[in-house]
Amino acid sequence: MMTKKTFYVTTPIFYPTAPPHLGTAYTTIAADVLSRWNKLLDNKVFFLTGTDEHGKKIAQAAEKMGKSPKEFVDLLIPEFKSAWEKLNVKYDRFIRTTDKDHEKVVQQILDATNKKGDIYLGSYEGLYCTGCEAYYTEKDAIDGCCPVHNKPLENIKEESYFFKLSKYQKPLLELYKKNPNFISPKHRAQEIINRVKEGLQDLSISRKTLKWGIPVPFDKSHCIYVWYDALLNYYSATQEKTKKKFWPADVHIIGKDIIWFHTVYWPAMLLSVGIEPPKKVFAHGWWTVNSEKMGKSAGNAINIDQLISFAGVDSARYFLLRSTPFGEDGDFSSKALIERHNNELGNKLGNLVSRVSTLASTMGLEKSKPLDSSSLVKRVTVHLDNLEFDKALNEIFAFVDLANLYIQQKKPWETKDKKVLYQLAGAIKDASILLSPFIPETSEKIAKVFNFEISLKALKKPLEIKPIAKAEILFKKIDEVKQEDSINNKSVITNNKNLKSDKLKTPQTLANKSDNNIQGVIKMDQIKYDDFAKLDLRVATIKKVEDIEGADKLYKLEIDTGKDTRTILAGIKQYYKKEELLDKQIIVIVNLEPRKMKGVESQGMLLAASNEDHSKVILIGPEKKIDSGSKVQ
Ligand code: MSP
Repeated sequence: MMTKKTFYVTTPIFYPTAPPHLGTAYTTIAADVLSRWNKLLDNKVFFLTGTDEHGKKIAQAAEKMGKSPKEFVDLLIPEFKSAWEKLNVKYDRFIRTTDKDHEKVVQQILDATNKKGDIYLGSYEGLYCTGCEAYYTEKDAIDGCCPVHNKPLENIKEESYFFKLSKYQKPLLELYKKNPNFISPKHRAQEIINRVKEGLQDLSISRKTLKWGIPVPFDKSHCIYVWYDALLNYYSATQEKTKKKFWPADVHIIGKDIIWFHTVYWPAMLLSVGIEPPKKVFAHGWWTVNSEKMGKSAGNAINIDQLISFAGVDSARYFLLRSTPFGEDGDFSSKALIERHNNELGNKLGNLVSRVSTLASTMGLEKSKPLDSSSLVKRVTVHLDNLEFDKALNEIFAFVDLANLYIQQKKPWETKDKKVLYQLAGAIKDASILLSPFIPETSEKIAKVFNFEISLKALKKPLEIKPIAKAEILFKKIDEVKQEDSINNKSVITNNKNLKSDKLKTPQTLANKSDNNIQGVIKMDQIKYDDFAKLDLRVATIKKVEDIEGADKLYKLEIDTGKDTRTILAGIKQYYKKEELLDKQIIVIVNLEPRKMKGVESQGMLLAASNEDHSKVILIGPEKKIDSGSKVQ
């Protein structure tokens, strides 16, 4: 088994402009799994995460809120910390780029780079996207817009200090050659190498017009460019006395969108001052939600509470790492998550633990030769070294499958063979220890039942025999009760059969169902005030009513929302005649992600009240006429 002395893993530091979501959780859970795995192997581990707090993006967001940038970022830090706690992420340091020790190191490194002759004063003229905090060339822009944010790029012209990035073209190419895993996964490397081969432009690393940043140490009228500052967090966190041994980092986990910064700017910055570059930068793919791009503007970003509301923390962690190879893009749906929760975690692992613990609690165990898991451990080790989380989980579950087959063949409930039960309990021990980085809470529960500890020592050692109590159900089956929502024609998933019929369509139930485009909601009897506040409810006026071919419940409505004219579909045909609807004022959720039904895109959802059996449905609207677009609050 691999024995490393130290292991240093990082996540990107996140912009604290919005709370964490599925995408940021993905990176962070992956880093947590690697950290826990290495801790399990008894390596000395440093797991760093944090927030990227300087720059124009933050300054602008703060200004919008009428706060100072520091006041603004301070607001969101607790959200990040509590999100990671909820997801059972155990980092060793949460770094903020406003931390004094970080700021000091950034200035020291820039000073050293300057002394090396790699900094010069020039003038930057070009395009900039504040969303990315990145410079773009005309070639990168699409119709003058940022290719990521699709917003017009800003033209800037100002005095700036430059880093001689062009000088590092050759050293970078040598680094990629010498360390073929530096840019991982492999299929992402070639594009970077090709672009570097085309030549590198020097990098503007300071801004004179921006005040929210670390001052350039040799010219305080300039602020350091936010990416130069941010990338250095990985190094500055190791400059504490006890952390020095962790540099160079073993792996920086990042999303594929920020690979250029990490595999070109970052190693060049380090090479300039003679610091060894990190060993690996691994770029994971991006998640869509129900096949659509996830984002704040689309309103479908899955927040952490939602993520864990579907099937619990461990199932969410498992799903994210099991369903998609780490370097590839993935698609999230609550349905797929629940399926894996039920079928893999519940039916395979949960059932095995339940059957074996039930039998062992009455029959007891008798020592015998354990089922061999040593080759499994080797394969899992290799996969985790390569960040192949899905493959590691596949291997462990193949072992769980074998144990399930074994119990089926040996029928210990008939034979009363306590030796077979011992072998099965041992297999459960090994699988649970190997699974502990992924599903830590469940592994702990299993360890308590079968009396072992989650450790390398316990993995290598046969199970000690002690009395065993019947295990609680580990993964409660979640029913997917798909229902047709007669008003909005949407599927709802619930694990509470009593919730089967949508009673009164209050904003709360509507909020639950529509919230961020999740196909369904599981027992969310309560939502947070903030979640409700996300709904943009407006008065709209119905301008046109049409039938839709093949839909006997739906009308296609053209509505005036005050800002635009849009189409929504509503299942109210049996309750209203067309003429009753014309010019009627209704309440519409206008910031809902569009949804296609019967080939027509619905761009919102109206509110209505309905009695229990849906025999009566009444549209909700303002008591008196009011301007279209009026806010409902
Ligand atoms: N602050 C910079 C990183 C600096 S690191 C020195 C930044 N921050 S971010 O908050 O915008 O994004 C952080 C990470 O979230 C990126 O790695 C990005 O890929 C990831 N994701 C954002 N949306 C995502 C998905 N929909 N899916 C997967 N990851 C996503 O960039």
